[in-house]
Amino acid sequence: MTEQSQTAPVDPSLAPDLAVPIADVETARLRLRRFARTDVDDLAVVFAKPEVWEFPLGRAVTRDETVEFLDTQIDQYESCGVACWLATQRATGRVIGYVGISVPAFHPAILPAVEVGWRFDPDVWGQGYATEGARAALDQSFGPLGLDRVCSLPQAENTASVRVAERLGLRHERTLTLPATDRRGPVNVAEFWIGATEWRTTTEET
Ligand SMILES: CC(C)(COP(=O)(O)OP(=O)(O)OC[C@H]1O[C@@H](n2cnc3c(N)ncnc32)[C@H](O)[C@@H]1OP(=O)(O)O)[C@@H](O)C(=O)NCCC(=O)NCCS
Repeated sequence: MTEQSQTAPVDPSLAPDLAVPIADVETARLRLRRFARTDVDDLAVVFAKPEVWEFPLGRAVTRDETVEFLDTQIDQYESCGVACWLATQRATGRVIGYVGISVPAFHPAILPAVEVGWRFDPDVWGQGYATEGARAALDQSFGPLGLDRVCSLPQAENTASVRVAERLGLRHERTLTLPATDRRGPVNVAEFWIGATEWRTTTEET
């Protein structure tokens, strides 16, 4: 989730083998579905708030960058069978952000892999949406997709995001610094992982 602004199409060899492509799902409060290019108007409103992209960019994201983001996610779904979902509140139909799994191409050392990530409108922070959406993503990952392991890569300084990873039961394995790109400076990434057996144990306990 550190750098979903990556714009190059993802090489399919960087994604783990999936039994099936990820499907759209619903949770108690969220409709979670594949992105469409027509989502740009709704998503650009969320991305225009600087808090949403404080990590890792330290600024808001423009409409043109939102178009690039959507292109990348849609290309990734088509090439790899996996990408994040648009998150809509079921009760209101309002687009409130995104959540789901995607290929963390910005961290080549751990590929092939998928990362569970999240980014929501500040209007709805603190209401458990990130946790709810991420649980659905992990259920899909260790259920129909047949994955063995999923990581999460919050920026180490991003307390809220680190807390979501911990709350889901992911284990912190190491913190490392990823080099700067053309969009951002170097970032400290807290590398979290969870395996299929741990996830099943966690969900049986809750
Ligand atoms: C990270 C983010 C998705 C959390 O979303 P959320 O829907 O508020 O998360 P939840 O309500 O599921 O809360 C999960 C935990 O984070 C904690 N949390 C939420 N906001 C927090 C904050 N600003 N500071 C510290 N902890 C915070 C919650 O209290 C909860 O912990 P708890 O179980 O100890 O109470 C949201 O803050 C966000 O979209 N941030 C901007 C995008 C971003 O940084 N994405 C991650 C990139 S690495």
